[in-house]
Amino acid sequence: MNDIKDVVEEIKNRCDIASVISEYMPIKQSGGNYKGLCPFHGEKTPSFHISSSKQIYKCFGCGEGGDVINFVMKMENLDFIDAVKLLANKCGIEINTNMNEEDKLRIEKSKKYQDIHLEAARFYFANLLKGKNPGYDYLRKRGLDDKTIKKFGLGYSQNAWHELMDYLLSKGYDKSDLVQSGLVNHKVDGDRYYDRFRNRVMFPIFDYRGNVIGFGGRVLDDSLPKYLNSPDSLIFNKRYNLYGLNFSRKNIVDRTIVLVEGYMDLISLFQYGVRNVVATLGTALTEQQGNLIKRYADTAIISYDSDEAGIKASLRAIEILSKVGINIKVLNLKDAKDPDEFIRKYGLDDYKKAIDDSTHYIKFQINHLKRKFNLEKDEERVKFAKEASNILKSIKSPVEVDYYTNYIAKQINISTESIKKEIYGKNYNSAYNKNYTKYTNKKRESIVIEKPKAIEHGKEHVEETLIKLMLENKKIRHVALLKLDESDFLLNGSKEILNYIIKNRELDKITIDKITSLNISEEYLKDLERISLDGININDTKSIDEIVRNLKKNNLQEQMNRLLQEQKNIEKQKTNKDDLKEVDVKVMEIALKIVEIRKMLHSL
Ligand code: UTP
Ligand code: MN
Repeated sequence: MNDIKDVVEEIKNRCDIASVISEYMPIKQSGGNYKGLCPFHGEKTPSFHISSSKQIYKCFGCGEGGDVINFVMKMENLDFIDAVKLLANKCGIEINTNMNEEDKLRIEKSKKYQDIHLEAARFYFANLLKGKNPGYDYLRKRGLDDKTIKKFGLGYSQNAWHELMDYLLSKGYDKSDLVQSGLVNHKVDGDRYYDRFRNRVMFPIFDYRGNVIGFGGRVLDDSLPKYLNSPDSLIFNKRYNLYGLNFSRKNIVDRTIVLVEGYMDLISLFQYGVRNVVATLGTALTEQQGNLIKRYADTAIISYDSDEAGIKASLRAIEILSKVGINIKVLNLKDAKDPDEFIRKYGLDDYKKAIDDSTHYIKFQINHLKRKFNLEKDEERVKFAKEASNILKSIKSPVEVDYYTNYIAKQINISTESIKKEIYGKNYNSAYNKNYTKYTNKKRESIVIEKPKAIEHGKEHVEETLIKLMLENKKIRHVALLKLDESDFLLNGSKEILNYIIKNRELDKITIDKITSLNISEEYLKDLERISLDGININDTKSIDEIVRNLKKNNLQEQMNRLLQEQKNIEKQKTNKDDLKEVDVKVMEIALKIVEIRKMLHSL
């Protein structure tokens, strides 16, 4: 493992803090947690606590605290990198130790800035809970309960110039580090240092692993700027980060993510029970953020503010997300101005329903375009048709092109043919006719259900290789049989042999002469004999996994091709008399199957 951040994450996952600490000192279980005599200051009654659920320790006597890495640093008197190495070694994580000085310094600095941010977040949080203060009153007035405030670590920065700075200096940090981490401003003119955030409600910004890397601070009234955010720093890069992902990534179901614009939208949705949400924090969605979303989701539901700015931002987000290759839908907030207002007004069930009813992005773009034209006028209808056709040009899936062609045609009551000509240009007729002839020839041969076309050579090879491996090697056979069945194969020969293999799974090696009596083509058997297994390491389960994955991928792709073909056929069959609706339904049914297959392909 090379990326130190991954190593640290892996250490935190694998090295249980209580068992690491117990190697250094006696600890006693108390409830789900542990207690002991603090090793960092002299004491007779235990005030050193370990939280198993949070994987942190804290001494209430001397204030020392942190995660498993901090403990080892302190205990062994090691710097960060060496503590990481020690722990990685202890829990069996391999790391690349050839790190140059520059990288090492950068990593140590990052860890320091993260520690500073964590301290700051605790400080702001403590302020919020300390007696009566305007920050707490404000958040309660916005409808947040104590549990939510705690979950998101919300805080308050006092109305003063250097409370946070003084606190962090007392913890031993340098002024220059505080400035570079973005929490303290330095006015060179007059050499003045002061807290960046003052008299604001504080929202810690986490990375997807849950480390605090920045803050957003909201004013308590209508003054401007409404939100002040941390500047980009060594540990915070707005373009790469999505607010709330640390919470939502464990709550993503069906690989669907809801995308909102603001802190309050996200927190409010969470409080009401929508937990697959991330926020962009006001700036336009970037391609990097799009890629981050793609790691966790195949579908993004854009739920931005309903005003003109929100619609514009949605259109921009659509552009980015479609580049990244995600299914996009846009949620309709009815009369509410933002998701926060919506869920407070209508509740969880209505928001869930709005998610289900959200509009496919193409339809959203078309509807938005429609508002620009007066469709009572002929010329404007023509203009609308042209521009709407333009939108469809970007779609790759013929199924979707078809569906939305119908949608546009219905809006202005013109034929789908003319829209298709608009989309495909002059080539439309010849392309159409070529396919049509192909199709009618097939029909003459009275092929009702499409038989698979000639399967590509590469696909055949993958199937036959796997079959041969399963014949020759019992271990591979058993591993593979756990992962696949007859339906994963395209060729009849493979299916036949697979059934034989299943019945004879306990044989050591199945020689080809045993299967010649099966109903298998000469050609297939010859291929089997020809295939060489030389390049395959049969002891490496990864390469077997790879072959199984390829097999499944080929099969799904083949299924998808057939559906696309079927869909085209329906389209061609359609005469003017046909009920458009019925064709639409068929096309949609196939489209749904295709979406299903796409999902399966993604999850391979
Ligand atoms: P909104 O104004 O919609 O924020 O801006 P919100 O979270 O819904 O705010 P309130 O508290 O309910 O009024 C969306 C996001 O844009 C960023 C913030 O991240 C905010 O959450 N923003 C907005 C700024 O960074 N600065 C600003 O001045 C305003
Ligand atoms: Mn808002």
